[in-house]
Amino acid sequence: MSEQVLVETADRIRTIRFNRPAKKNALTQDMYDAAAEALESADTDPSVRVSIITGTDGVFTAGNDIVDFTQRPPDFSEHDIPPVRRFMLALLNAQKPVVAAVDGLAIGIGVTMLLHCDLVVASDRAVFKTPFVDLALAPEFASSQLMPRIFGHAVAAELLLLGDTWDATRARETGLVNRVTEPGKLDETASFIAAILAAKAPTSLKASKALMRTPVESIEDRMDRENAIFASQLQSPEFAEAAGAFLERRAPDFDKLG
Ligand code: COA
Repeated sequence: MSEQVLVETADRIRTIRFNRPAKKNALTQDMYDAAAEALESADTDPSVRVSIITGTDGVFTAGNDIVDFTQRPPDFSEHDIPPVRRFMLALLNAQKPVVAAVDGLAIGIGVTMLLHCDLVVASDRAVFKTPFVDLALAPEFASSQLMPRIFGHAVAAELLLLGDTWDATRARETGLVNRVTEPGKLDETASFIAAILAAKAPTSLKASKALMRTPVESIEDRMDRENAIFASQLQSPEFAEAAGAFLERRAPDFDKLG
């Protein structure tokens, strides 16, 4: 495991921390591989219910390591899965919720990855920037589709075409970020949100996340898809526990279901 990506699991929460502050947590291929491994194994590890992706004091990540990228450009051909693609696929396909905690700089893929997380907390000194056009590159990992969908086309153009820098207030009002905290409260807030998720019925949570990430379809098709899951959940031990807890006026305990 890379020292530049610290991974720890406690209280059902896996924390994946970019830890290369001298280079503003710029992401190398080794770092992508380490973070991908942590996300992939979180999905199969029953002791993990939620993952948090975060950085270090004042820096989430300055994006792809430009030197690494120039020397070893990723090959996106079908026969090769470059580490950056492996990481973004692990994030896209993560069945369990992922919370991002952003302090300071989030640049390039540091913003793109937030679009694939479920909830984002930022410190009030966070800044967000996707300078792809300024670097004569192009949007990546579906940001050209997700940003217009989340923000609207004109607002997405601020980031993707103008290369504007958003502060935490702008990120909050556009919907990139859920909650803004003081820097000293960031980890605590992310852990608090993760703990709420970790206590919920895991199968229900996974199914709800998957539904939210399923591509747009007809309303009737979506109703049918939801109804099938709803009916299955009604028969589940999770629902029995939730309903029993309601009737007994206690908090549900899904851990005892294994
Ligand atoms: N790739 C590689 N190295 C990077 C990097 C990146 N994306 N971002 C920062 N670094 C390195 C710098 O080269 C510098 O290394 P050095 O100390 O060996 O010279 C170190 O991190 C500190 O960065 P520095 O530029 O001195 O800090 P700063 O506070 O003045 O500026 C940034 C910070 C992030 C605004 C600036 O470094 C920057 O614009 N980085 C590029 C971000 C980017 O375009 N990312 C998208 C890539 S697709």
